[in-house]
Amino acid sequence: MSDTPEIKKGLAGVTVDHTAVSKVNVDTNSLLYRGYPVQELAAMRSFEEVVYLLWYGELPTAEQLAQFQRIERSHRTLDPAIARVIDQLVGTAHPMDIVRTAVSMLGASDPTAWDSEPHAILDKALALFAQLPGIVAYIQRCERGLGAIAPRDDLGYAANFLWMTFGEEPHPVAREAFDVSMTLYAEHSFNASTFTARVVTSTLSDYYSAVVAAIGALKGPLHGGANEAVMRTFEEIGDASRVTGWLDEALGAKRKIMGFGHRVYKRGDSRVPTMHAALDTLIAHYGRPDIADLYDRLEAEFVARKGIYPNLDYPSGPAYHLIGFDTAIFTPIFVASRVAGWTAHIQEQLASNALIRPLSAYNGPAERHIEGYVADE
Ligand code: ACO
Repeated sequence: MSDTPEIKKGLAGVTVDHTAVSKVNVDTNSLLYRGYPVQELAAMRSFEEVVYLLWYGELPTAEQLAQFQRIERSHRTLDPAIARVIDQLVGTAHPMDIVRTAVSMLGASDPTAWDSEPHAILDKALALFAQLPGIVAYIQRCERGLGAIAPRDDLGYAANFLWMTFGEEPHPVAREAFDVSMTLYAEHSFNASTFTARVVTSTLSDYYSAVVAAIGALKGPLHGGANEAVMRTFEEIGDASRVTGWLDEALGAKRKIMGFGHRVYKRGDSRVPTMHAALDTLIAHYGRPDIADLYDRLEAEFVARKGIYPNLDYPSGPAYHLIGFDTAIFTPIFVASRVAGWTAHIQEQLASNALIRPLSAYNGPAERHIEGYVADE
């Protein structure tokens, strides 16, 4: 009998801890944030209310929301030191690397970065959350040779994000679709980036280090980087009439089709119908039936051939494109949303911490020795 323990590659199917933050139910194809179906939250609540729910466990009262918004809005102005770093890095670094660097800088310049009291974590999280739209917006503006736009404290989070990016008050259709996408991206149990944040937190490292590490995990195309990759696929295919030939070639070359498949959902991602509906409103608003044709054709053909369904990145990629974001900005937008979930999990990890340190089964060379070595007496 082999003495090799059973290996769970990629931790697939392994339950490592409890969480009260969200529940992914594959059987009912549902996702609950603190008990509420995400579709109901997307339809009935603003993204800020959803963030409050994730952090505090309950939806805010009007008074609690006003206080939360007041603090968030007071932190929106882009830190000039961060702006200078963005100036230096734009053009050479990917926007995800710039965002990761900016968050690291915020941590390095916070003298209380080590404070892990629950209220301190939430204060840092809210300030970081408020800074992210300015950071992401300025990266896109710099890429386009444009200057920074001051935030508006009369706008909600999603609307201000669009304002700081485009310098125009967003059309309600764009604002609404964007807000919905932020809610859908906010949290998804023990996904790779959230688990990364929990691993870092489990060593009792600081809040910013956990977020920086999570950004690194989110960047990969098998995770958050897929929303950017979806748009590059759309650009590569170009037109619905080219889908069949493109798929023949891509699948023949054993390429992964970005925006399809999921480690947990195998019969479709619970968030897709809501985001697809939001995408449809954008397609109608911007008059782009060509995008709908390409979207539908690629989905239909890929599902028919492989039985693998779209994930949230599939509708959100073209949605962000229609709103006007550059493709390389899509995953940084995901950061501004998922920082909500990361923060909730960092709090939860700290509240009942155990160092995360799994085992491995060694399969390297058998024990061997350096010639001439003499062990000490
Ligand atoms: N395109 C082509 N084939 C795929 C795809 C895909 N998108 N997804 C899975 N498969 C195939 C694999 O090639 C594999 O085939 P094989 O058994 O013949 O080797 C089989 O399906 C199982 O795939 P795995 O990658 O082992 O499944 P896993 O559960 O580990 O993967 C993952 C999930 C990584 C998301 C995968 O579906 C994928 O790479 N998708 C594309 C990237 C993507 O869209 N990521 C976003 C995830 S959601 C999010 O972060 C919001």
